[in-house]
Amino acid sequence: MSLRPQTLPKQPTTPFERIGGREPVAGLVMRFYDLMDRDPAFAELRAIHGPDLGEMKEKLTDFLVAWMGGPRDWFDKNPGACIMSAHAAMKGIDTQTADQWMACMERAAEDIAATDPDLATSMLTSMRSMGRTMARRAGQPSESYAGKL
Ligand code: HEM
Repeated sequence: MSLRPQTLPKQPTTPFERIGGREPVAGLVMRFYDLMDRDPAFAELRAIHGPDLGEMKEKLTDFLVAWMGGPRDWFDKNPGACIMSAHAAMKGIDTQTADQWMACMERAAEDIAATDPDLATSMLTSMRSMGRTMARRAGQPSESYAGKL
């Protein structure tokens, strides 16, 4: 018996679909900033953020949704912005805060790693590589992007 295409279950085509849409991404970001806020292991990372993390929860969720192939609200709100160059212009990004960022994100993603290890691994591997590059380029914003966020 042959399966006609319309009888096959739809396969998720983007990491955004695979994770299950915006809500799980918002949950990841919520855990990330809550951990950063209360665990002294992330004190130096917390210190370089503003006092209220509420706005950051919204911004990082918007960014990750777009980065994973979902709606591109973050890019619409920040035309021409580059996340790597934006971080190069930020104060306090170095190997210590980059390592804390990654350790915090790994903890926040523990439940995703338990349910979909491949997705968690690919997401965390890309983030780790971005974080390392951010730490390397810290303090060297490119003129065309500096100050766009
Ligand atoms: C090297 C590790 C990282 C450090 C230390 C770091 C730190 C920061 C800081 C201090 C801010 C500004 C917070 C504020 O205004 O209160 C920020 C903003 C932001 N970061 Fe990072 N970050 C890191 C890695 C990443 C990575 C890997 C991503 C994406 C996958 C990311 C996405 C963002 C976004 C979307 C914003 C908000 C930009 C906006 O819309 O204004 N960051 N980050």
